[in-house]
Amino acid sequence: MNRSSLGIGLAGLGTVGSGVVLALQRNARLIADRTGGSVQLEVARVLVRDPKKLRPVSLPEERLTTDWRELVEDPAVDIVVELIGGTRDAFDIVAAALRAHKPVVTGNKALLAERGIELFSLSREHDTPIHFEAAVAGGIPIIKTVQESFIGNRIHSMTGIINGTSNYILERMTTAGLDFQAALSEAQQLGYAEADPALDVNGWDAAHKAILLATLAYGFPIDPTRVHVAGIEQVRPIDIEFATRLGYVVKLLAVIREQPDGAVELRLQPSFIAKSHILASVHGVFNAVAVHGDAAGESLFYGRGAGQDPTASSVVADLVEAARSLRLPEGHRGFLPYRENGRLLPVEDTETAYYVRFDVTDRPGVIAEIARVLAEAGIGISGTHSPVNPESPDADFVDMVFLLHTCRFGRLQETLSEIEKLDCVNSSPVVFRIEKL
Ligand SMILES: NC(=O)c1ccc[n+]([C@@H]2O[C@H](COP(=O)([O-])OP(=O)(O)OC[C@H]3O[C@@H](n4cnc5c(N)ncnc54)[C@H](OP(=O)(O)O)[C@@H]3O)[C@@H](O)[C@H]2O)c1
Repeated sequence: MNRSSLGIGLAGLGTVGSGVVLALQRNARLIADRTGGSVQLEVARVLVRDPKKLRPVSLPEERLTTDWRELVEDPAVDIVVELIGGTRDAFDIVAAALRAHKPVVTGNKALLAERGIELFSLSREHDTPIHFEAAVAGGIPIIKTVQESFIGNRIHSMTGIINGTSNYILERMTTAGLDFQAALSEAQQLGYAEADPALDVNGWDAAHKAILLATLAYGFPIDPTRVHVAGIEQVRPIDIEFATRLGYVVKLLAVIREQPDGAVELRLQPSFIAKSHILASVHGVFNAVAVHGDAAGESLFYGRGAGQDPTASSVVADLVEAARSLRLPEGHRGFLPYRENGRLLPVEDTETAYYVRFDVTDRPGVIAEIARVLAEAGIGISGTHSPVNPESPDADFVDMVFLLHTCRFGRLQETLSEIEKLDCVNSSPVVFRIEKL
């Protein structure tokens, strides 16, 4: 290897890893020119599970390994890129690289949301950076935006659509009238959803990203088990129909917002947002994050949130930054806890209006029974509707929808568990937030 260049240890040669090799093959010369020749990168070692697999990129066979220690310890490897996913081997690779003083680039949001605090403290201990632009919103440079461009702002809120798979599924349910399963199968056929789409549809992929953004914006460690997360599996065509009729669209929305007392609201759930709001126009697999800073006001970052090339774009930008930091060492960032009294706002204390769908037995007085419990709890009703199922107009069970005025989520939860005890209510109600953005 030419030692005027820096060696990359690439852990993972799947969708993103292959994209990084292709982007470097395409643009290595451009990068060298743009950095005055100071950054020349070469893929020195590659970690895979199956070295025999056919891949869209060709690399000399002797560079492949199935042992991550060989990759991290190889003297030809100066920078380690972790793109295997998961939190177990990935943690060991990143930790070993930091201990060996090799800068790390990763796109692994699950790893950083679950174990970022440990890893960034190792990073400081060994004075070696972790770069992670690709971990949130693929090709959109939102991490550097929060860390650098908004550093002089108190961030009031970040709201966003940060899971393209869910956004695609909700959109197909809206525009093509598909049910959840049919829209999910379509997304899988088009390669937008993984064979195991659990983390996309249960909300956790987006929640991991939201935790990273909130940690950067507010400076204290966030325990993932304390974040309120609901995915899109419960969304039914009837909810979409209602939203449309009322002038809303349903989006899987990340809401990160600082309260006047400093507590941080952080939640992720399907929400109704006004059709006229700019986030309602984020279609298909695209992502967008609206950042509201006290000085900058509202800014919107929009683009491709996943996929081979957009994600590789962020990884390669981080690689160049890592290479520059080796050539010209300077301070590095990551999670730097600076707020001793930072706290998450308990989800029970968050307040919005709501859309609630009940599965009820169709008999006289049902609306009044539910309304009575709501009234006793002081929760106002702005509308109710019980649609007739055209396929079985005489069905014993129907969906009944209530639109409720703004109240504490805790009060709503207590009241809904009272309502669930009524004979006429057959299963747990489904709740959507109506967000005023
Ligand atoms: N895909 C995206 O659009 C996207 C966007 C942003 C961030 N990310 C993140 O980027 C990371 C990689 O995603 P991906 O979509 O590229 O995944 P992927 O296509 O499944 O590729 C994973 C790669 O890692 C290798 N690998 C997995 N576990 C391994 C282990 N224990 N030991 C050795 N090799 C192992 C696999 O080897 P084999 O090929 O031999 O099986 C494969 O090459 C994840 O953290 C993901 O969250 C992905």
